[in-house]
Amino acid sequence: MRILAIESTCDETGAAIVEDGRAVLSNVVASQIDLHAKYRGVVPEIASRAHIENILPVLREACETADCRLAEVDAIAVAHRPGLIGSLLVGVTAAKSLAWALGKPLIGVDHVHAHLYSVMLEERQKAEGRRQKAESDSRGVRGEEGGSSTTAASALPEFPAVGLVCSGGHTALYELKSWLDVRMIGSTIDDAVGEAYDKVSALLALGYPGGPIIDRLAQAGDPKAIDFPRSLMARESLDFSFSGLKTAVLYRVYGVPGRGAKPSTLAGPPKMSTQELADIAASFQAACVEVIVRKIERAARYIGAKSVIIGGGVSANRGLRVGMQNFRLPVFFPPLQFCTDNAAMTGGLAWEHLRVLGPTGLDLDAIPFSQFADRT
Ligand code: KG4
Ligand code: ZN
Repeated sequence: MRILAIESTCDETGAAIVEDGRAVLSNVVASQIDLHAKYRGVVPEIASRAHIENILPVLREACETADCRLAEVDAIAVAHRPGLIGSLLVGVTAAKSLAWALGKPLIGVDHVHAHLYSVMLEERQKAEGRRQKAESDSRGVRGEEGGSSTTAASALPEFPAVGLVCSGGHTALYELKSWLDVRMIGSTIDDAVGEAYDKVSALLALGYPGGPIIDRLAQAGDPKAIDFPRSLMARESLDFSFSGLKTAVLYRVYGVPGRGAKPSTLAGPPKMSTQELADIAASFQAACVEVIVRKIERAARYIGAKSVIIGGGVSANRGLRVGMQNFRLPVFFPPLQFCTDNAAMTGGLAWEHLRVLGPTGLDLDAIPFSQFADRT
């Protein structure tokens, strides 16, 4: 089954065609980074206007790359929550129009939930390879790995799993009993971790989005150079707080208010060496990663998890991937191209929805808040 999926929750216009929930036949993302960079963050009105301009070309390219005509698609999916309302409306309207005009089922999925599902995605060639290997294994043909049927690509997360979505808009922990049974068990009480990266990058005048820039800089820095605070909250808390860490970086760079004159944030940071900058980046990243890893461990204990699933833009972070390397449970990260916002993850999760819960009606709404925001 081929699902054509649309993403327009924030500042990326995406369209993808995904086969049977895993094989990504095409994944087109029109980024708006250049439009928002000078404002050092996303401007909602600019984002919705850009979605309107991008949506049709992106849909066309997704079909061409997958070599799949609209008539050959089995269903239409869209991330209809949470996000910027003006942005969401563009994707939801396009998806409904396509579903109605083509007479295909429509599926609305939660964007945050789809970030978790992104660990299941594979490029078309990889998926083909996995399918062929499974077929030859079942015929008793020995593969390259000496006949083992369990490869990294074929290993799947076991439930219950701890899910962590860490992005620019969200940082939350989930208990997953299945792909469709998801409960939020903790979240940030202030900034999302990606937001903290973006703000720290802005105060260092490094550019937007800050995550990849700080991640790259951190590789050359000393993570122990500065002892930034690790906010773990109450003893068993599964919530996060990154605003204190962000303020600690601000004070480190610009000085503590009332204690000596330092340049203002408007004038930009004081001059510092490349090594000093790298040390700040590495120490900030070390603080973020330590908090995240410890919270995942708490959450895993709390729900008796058998695996860990991590998604969202910050799941591309090298420090986080290294920090989770020796975790006691199997850890699943998405392939790098599916960490940040994309439509492929929507198409993948929609396949599960359609199989188990059936389609959504054409009265689907754009909803700014998450389906999984309430703790139960
Ligand atoms: O998932 P995403 O594309 O959008 C949201 O749903 O928010 O995530 C974007 C966020 C931005 O804050 C960006 O700075 C961050 O993900 N990000 C990273 C990295 N790549 C992207 N943060 C840390 N390290 C990275 N390598
Ligand atoms: Zn996202």
